[in-house]
Amino acid sequence: MTKTPTFRHETAADAAAADDLIDRAFGPGRLVKVSERVRERAAFRPDLSVCAFDGAALIGVARMWDVHVGATPIAFLGPLAVDSGARNAGLGAALVEAASQAARAAGACAVLLVGDEAFFRKAGFTAAPAADIVMPGPVDQKRVLLRWLADSAQKALKGPLTS
Ligand SMILES: CC(C)(COP(=O)(O)OP(=O)(O)OC[C@H]1O[C@@H](n2cnc3c(N)ncnc32)[C@H](O)[C@@H]1OP(=O)(O)O)[C@@H](O)C(=O)NCCC(=O)NCCS
Repeated sequence: MTKTPTFRHETAADAAAADDLIDRAFGPGRLVKVSERVRERAAFRPDLSVCAFDGAALIGVARMWDVHVGATPIAFLGPLAVDSGARNAGLGAALVEAASQAARAAGACAVLLVGDEAFFRKAGFTAAPAADIVMPGPVDQKRVLLRWLADSAQKALKGPLTS
């Protein structure tokens, strides 16, 4: 990284660079993951998704989607990817926080994702509140993580994740 990164919501013009970064970060296995099954059905929210730039170069992305558990609308985060040359400088955490705050501002009560709790715990994500959410495919339930965005909105989230 040469400069302090800048952040903004994703636009259509960012899609190719963001897809390329995600492909590099995850490799070919990413399309078989359960998160991809979620995203196939969900509505993409570029207005909640966040890209990070080093000058004109896209170096990080956190994408967001609209999903439901029962009648409750929540945000689904992923993929999260940071360019290998920009890692371990807080960018991944900053992207998660910016996307979560955008979802909060848009009225979402929670953000769900599939990932390593060791990384996402620092941003307030834990497996316990997502234990009864049924994902659309095989998954290690310990990797299904939820962060509440509004204390007053906490309710039992139980049943299939739908679009
Ligand atoms: C995961 C990823 C987004 C982190 O980006 P980043 O900008 O390096 O993140 P941050 O700088 O905010 O945090 C880095 C810290 O998280 C740790 N970390 C990174 N990935 C981790 C993981 N999977 N599990 C636990 N800790 C992890 C790093 O070791 C580092 O720890 P430190 O602060 O103690 O040194 C980036 O490594 C990446 O794009 N990886 C490939 C794609 C991926 O795995 N995405 C996440 C899906 S689970």
